Amino acid sequence: MNARWKLAGAVAFAIIACLSLVGVTADSKEGRATPTFTKNILPILQKSCQDCHRPGGMAPMSLVTYEESRPWARSIKEKVVTRYMPPWHIDRTVGEYYPDPSLSDEEIAAVASWVDGGAMKGNPADAPAPRVFPPANTWVFGEEPDLVVTSSGFVVPAVAADQYPKIDVPTGLAEDRYIKWMQVIPEDTTVLHHVLIYALQGEPATGGVRGIQQRRSPISDSLLIEYARGNDGDIFTNGTAKLLKAGSKLRFSFHYHPNGEKAVNERAKIGFKFFPKGYTPKYLISTKGISSPSTLAIPPGEPNARSDAYFRLEEAARLVSFQPHMHYRGKRMTLEAILPDGHVELLTDVARFVWTWQITYPYKNPPAFPRGTVLHMTAYHDNSPNNKENPDPTAFVGWGDRTVDEMNIGWLDFYYISDQEFAELQKQKADRLRATASPQ
Ligand code: HEC
Repeated sequence: MNARWKLAGAVAFAIIACLSLVGVTADSKEGRATPTFTKNILPILQKSCQDCHRPGGMAPMSLVTYEESRPWARSIKEKVVTRYMPPWHIDRTVGEYYPDPSLSDEEIAAVASWVDGGAMKGNPADAPAPRVFPPANTWVFGEEPDLVVTSSGFVVPAVAADQYPKIDVPTGLAEDRYIKWMQVIPEDTTVLHHVLIYALQGEPATGGVRGIQQRRSPISDSLLIEYARGNDGDIFTNGTAKLLKAGSKLRFSFHYHPNGEKAVNERAKIGFKFFPKGYTPKYLISTKGISSPSTLAIPPGEPNARSDAYFRLEEAARLVSFQPHMHYRGKRMTLEAILPDGHVELLTDVARFVWTWQITYPYKNPPAFPRGTVLHMTAYHDNSPNNKENPDPTAFVGWGDRTVDEMNIGWLDFYYISDQEFAELQKQKADRLRATASPQ
């Protein structure tokens, strides 16, 4: 026993010694070289920033060229080191997501040392080819949509309180269709904070859809999509789809924030691409908002008001994505699964929630749960003066539509599977775990 510990200690020491040797060599050869824009930084900006920071993008400035980026160097370091940018406000050690634009610790270190080292341009020959982007306000999933529904215009005054119009528009759809992708394009992003688009579809139809899925997923008045910064479209893959029913209406539920400069007549449009007629998807995605309006009570000055809500899965299911929704005082939201055997699994921890960013976190391998699993949302609100977004720390705050009121909604996209499919997924997971545990 003793000897074994000694041996282990010696081996550990040897490993540490080797590691530090490697470290020294790397350091003296190339590690010391200060990162340059063309070689080290531009690839990071292309991967994680330019979707928004480019001409015509939603962000306030372009980070495409060195000349555009250089004036922002200090600010870039600050936003990247605090992990405010790219907007991805979860604890990265919990769950796996795809796509995941967040930066690794190494990438953040490179950005910091680039800025500290004078934000040098470097050799132009090191630069990767520029990324090519679709023009602004185009359908990003490739083809033209089959149906475009446009909201009637709403005049947002130059200066006023936030406006919350709800505008219903018929789709004119003559038959049930399954959605392959959908995308929202607003007309004026200076005033649009976000828009929730619901499908008002009445009672579930009896024909046309596989009966069993109907029974499992009553889908009247369901949230179709939320457009917010960082989130403008959804595409469905791997046999999944959402349903838009014949005769349905869309409800555009806007949140406008006057831009302080000029009145704007804003309207938004949503484009749908459908699967071919007659096609029945294997899995129908439902959207569920877990929230607890009646127990959301935030005392004045309270830095960490907690509220909880639960949703029980009546069938086995797979979880596609999670999106927290809170307002100014939102601070953190977690989602966990309470399994029928009592085991609790933390799925996502949005540890640094920022109310201006309503981000959807899509799971890389949609986790599967047996029937009877309870999904548990926990929200934390900060009503203290330390929350610099807080408009009034002396207010007692409860549930409401206005931004000065609060909400605690965890939006889930999920689809039901059969018990056999669940068992099969469990088996695959166990096999994977066994393979990683014993690599021979
Ligand atoms: C999803 C879109 C999006 C992505 C991706 C994104 N940004 Fe931003 N960024 C914005 C928006 C919008 C703002 C302004 C609003 C805000 O600050 O929340 C902003 C603000 C900033 C600011 C502050 C500008 C100021 O006025 O001080 C910096 C710096 C910044 N981003 C750098 C980056 C960097 C670096 C990356 C990649 C590592 C990145 N951003 C990724 C959208 C994005």
